[in-house]
Amino acid sequence: MAGATEATETELRQSGRAFLVAMYAALRSLKLYPVENDQVQKSLDGLTRTADDLIQRESELEVRVAGQLLFINSTRLRLDLHNYASFSYVLATFRQAEVGIMSVTPGIDRREWQVFVSLMLSFAARDSGPNKLSELREKMTLGGITHITVDPPAASEADLANEERQKEVAKRTYERCVAITNELAESARMGRTASVKKVKRAVQGIVDQILNNEVTLIGLTTIRDYDDYTFTHSVNVSIFAVSMGKRLGLSKLQLYDLGMSAFLHDVGKARIPKEVLNKTDKLTQDEWLAMQLHPTLGAIALSGFRGYGDIPYRPMIVAYEHHMGTNLKGYPKSLRPRELSVFSKIITVADVFDAATSHRVYRTQEPLKPNEILQELLDDHERLGIDVALVKALINLLGIYPVGTCVILDTYEVAIVHGVNPDPAQIHRPLIRIIYTADGNRATDEHVVDLAETAADGSFKRTIIKITDPEKYHVNPGDYYL
Ligand SMILES: [Fe+2]
Ligand SMILES: [Fe+2]
Repeated sequence: MAGATEATETELRQSGRAFLVAMYAALRSLKLYPVENDQVQKSLDGLTRTADDLIQRESELEVRVAGQLLFINSTRLRLDLHNYASFSYVLATFRQAEVGIMSVTPGIDRREWQVFVSLMLSFAARDSGPNKLSELREKMTLGGITHITVDPPAASEADLANEERQKEVAKRTYERCVAITNELAESARMGRTASVKKVKRAVQGIVDQILNNEVTLIGLTTIRDYDDYTFTHSVNVSIFAVSMGKRLGLSKLQLYDLGMSAFLHDVGKARIPKEVLNKTDKLTQDEWLAMQLHPTLGAIALSGFRGYGDIPYRPMIVAYEHHMGTNLKGYPKSLRPRELSVFSKIITVADVFDAATSHRVYRTQEPLKPNEILQELLDDHERLGIDVALVKALINLLGIYPVGTCVILDTYEVAIVHGVNPDPAQIHRPLIRIIYTADGNRATDEHVVDLAETAADGSFKRTIIKITDPEKYHVNPGDYYL
């Protein structure tokens, strides 16, 4: 039974795609050529045929657009590289014509499609006005279209789409940064100078995202299934550092500089042999000494960076200082007493946190849960040489239950922490996504729930009773941000 449904879904997706490609071809050719043109005629044939195919199968055809999403009879069609051009063209035309839903009933013919496609094109080019949709409907009636109706986008769908779009943008920012870290390491290894412009743009992307949509970007740091920790690490450290800096009241320009310093803090690692970096066993004395050179090597590499403006002296200081610790017990050893720069202090906390939450190759034991790590940073800040005020800033940012923590609620539901509560008084009541219902079934509705929500009698609807291991429930917290 389940198999049969799946097959139908796949078939629907296939014919849905075929229909959209045909729609695209018709829109494009009618825009470029007169109706008599051969290509126009062919494209209209294709559109009629693919629509008939869908209507026969499903006895109806409904195309719905919401933001960047396209649904055919409530099945979402995914954008991919092959259909990118056609999908985005159709999406844009619908959006410009201010049509959210197009419903087609059986019996539609080729002539109606021709009139409809021309009308969509001309309305997409029109300025928007209060009566745009009703005017389109009027023209459709005048043109003898009896099998197509159009409706505006639904408001809630627009919200949903907005959330999806923000997620997409955040994800793209994140992925671009990971790719650039990769490039940066590659060029450092080859002795080439990296494109500082690209790095700068990537960091600006992070800062802008954090200023607009912090929760999603922080959520992406919980994705641990990228091949190489080295690449995600710099991106994650930048995200944490910039978010902390924002809370400390730094200006946008300072945040750019902080983000840049965080992004480049481990650049010296590119000069350390990969065998040492990725070694799973304990490092030998020599290897450990080599590893300890990365702050100095990083500072030297950065002094040669061109195109940053002046010498990138803040990133250089951070690269040099990020393992020293406020107690100067780390490395490299400082000959005289020194006060670490504020950027170094912030980045040290971000660095330690990300390193501890990641499944690192050479960590043989189970990684600690994010909340345990925060507790450890708080308790052990002196030994670790980190600034306790900054640990508190990080806790403030991530909540007592950091994003990605898997929790069990007093309703017996299992949830993943989605973000810190916007109300600072409710720091112990984060925003969550329920992933298992009380009866143990996978939740179908994974919308965000605020744990500060109260029932009619004033009691909290849901409360966290304990933290659990996401792997026990076969969930990867990062999936909730993909
Ligand atoms: Fe480092
Ligand atoms: Fe690091």
